[in-house]
Amino acid sequence: MCGIVGFTGVRSAAPILLDGLKKLEYRGYDSAGIAVMDHHVISLSKVTGRIANLCEKTHDGKCMAGSTGIGHTRWATHGAPTEENAHPHLSNDGRFAVVHNGIIENYIALREELIRDGYHFESETDTEVIVHLIEMYYRGDMREALIRTANQLRGSYALGVLCSEEPDKIYAVREASPLILGLGIGENFFASDVTALVNHTRNVIYLEDGEFAELSRSSIRVFDGAGQEIRKKSTRILWDVQAAEKGGFEHFMLKEIMEQPGAVKATISPRIKDGRIVFDELKALIPALPNIRKIMITACGSAYYAGCAGKYALEKLCRIPVETQLASELRYSDPLIDEQTLLIVISQSGETADTIAAMKECKARGAKTLAIVNVVGSTVAKMADYTVYTWAGPEIAVATTKGYTTQISVLYLLALYLSDCLGLDSGKKAVMIEALQALPRQIQQAIDMNPGIPGLARKYHASKALFFIGRNTDYAVALEGALKMKEISYLHAEAYAAGELKHGTIALIEEHQPVIALCCNPLIMEKTMNNIVEVKSRGAEVLALTYRNNQKILSVADDLLFIPQIDPLFSAVVEIVPLQLLAYYVAKENECDIDKPKNLAKSVTVE
Ligand code: F6R
Repeated sequence: MCGIVGFTGVRSAAPILLDGLKKLEYRGYDSAGIAVMDHHVISLSKVTGRIANLCEKTHDGKCMAGSTGIGHTRWATHGAPTEENAHPHLSNDGRFAVVHNGIIENYIALREELIRDGYHFESETDTEVIVHLIEMYYRGDMREALIRTANQLRGSYALGVLCSEEPDKIYAVREASPLILGLGIGENFFASDVTALVNHTRNVIYLEDGEFAELSRSSIRVFDGAGQEIRKKSTRILWDVQAAEKGGFEHFMLKEIMEQPGAVKATISPRIKDGRIVFDELKALIPALPNIRKIMITACGSAYYAGCAGKYALEKLCRIPVETQLASELRYSDPLIDEQTLLIVISQSGETADTIAAMKECKARGAKTLAIVNVVGSTVAKMADYTVYTWAGPEIAVATTKGYTTQISVLYLLALYLSDCLGLDSGKKAVMIEALQALPRQIQQAIDMNPGIPGLARKYHASKALFFIGRNTDYAVALEGALKMKEISYLHAEAYAAGELKHGTIALIEEHQPVIALCCNPLIMEKTMNNIVEVKSRGAEVLALTYRNNQKILSVADDLLFIPQIDPLFSAVVEIVPLQLLAYYVAKENECDIDKPKNLAKSVTVE
């Protein structure tokens, strides 16, 4: 949710912190602040709203002297987005400053105790208890103060801490919230996400839960929860810096939509060798496969919808029952999961709190866990028994696009791979592998075939509501299409299984009601066409998404979106692309903040 950064070196800290916060702004953007230390004095600057306001207030950091500091961009959980609640928080004696990402679950009890002990609170946040605890436990040794503080906290936290007694050091603490240390030359950094580090260094260390680090300009030392120093290996980030910049596009979202042919190719191509699917990372799973009786897919939001779309290929090709469950539901559902279940966990960020909790719950019941993740070294990636990475590159826009399509691509690959390992030969393997290899090209065609989308956006942008309908995989894509539309354009958009219309929803159809009908599966085309006729006869305006040259639809729909003709088992990954573009242009018409939609954050690290 929130983003944190830290820097210590010889350069002026404030501009570096502000630059890092701009890269993290997608994680939260309702208020922001930095604390910089200069000769044993900590100075603070905080604002409500965007990082741009903080840049203005600090004259791009020029009016804050000091070469050691921490910064924060907030997505409010406890307490409104005000300056008082913005981080960093300062101790009563002014010697300590803290930034925090996560939630302290027992903060109310801690706050009451601290108030009884004479500490006063400036904010309504859960975070403020941390800085007062550090002040209380500090007896000249920061490591001891951090360990004693961490022992009091329940919940999730990535912390950045300054202590004015140690003017050249920053401290970082991690428990269930991402935190990465960056190794520079004569300077060191930390951040919630590597995107804030890659402009300065490509050598990073991933902190694990329960670890903390002491960073000075010349060294990084990492300790376990008992204070024992531990040796950590650094990892080299191979992402291209350009990949985290807009590169001439008006929004990250548009750039990321356009990157999908490349991202899907990067995800699929290396896993096809000599006409077979190869997953070196799954070799250890093979012996357990014959005992698997059920596949459970869990995730949140779009990642969940990717699971809904991929389920069809898995079930059809592996002949194993596949269930899909939202992680936020699964975790509290006393699920029927055991050692004969393969749990597939899908997450772009790898840090989604509900997804992690559902995974823990199922692991405890004996399930084998296979994670499909984009962010390397993230919590989900590390927790899983087997991890398959999507190679989407950094996704910056809050609304996922290439994250989603690469997740479905992995599910297709998995379906073919597992069926091969199970010895199931559909006799069509070679054709199917060719079909997967064609997907990047077909995504590009789906982009090129629909130059009329900005015009359609002008037609539909002022609608009160949009309904998306479809059957089977078309329905799964309709769910994601409607989510894209609501989250970035704020239009009321709902997806319905087309066959369900008569069971209630058709009551909502009135004159000029836009209905977006997905008809990309020739086997059930007639059925969806019947639904189109039903809504049209009640006055609906139908925008159909179908494959090129589908003459039947041409005669019933008012407007059309196209994809090339594809095996319906694999078409979801292409079908979504015109719908992403439609949502993008509708949001643009409505002058919405497309990359940072209101009330949303990129990485939902709290429940
Ligand atoms: C919607 C969107 C969210 C995420 C969901 C899960 O565009 O991005 O619905 O898909 O919050 O996030 P990850 O995949 O990071 O676990």
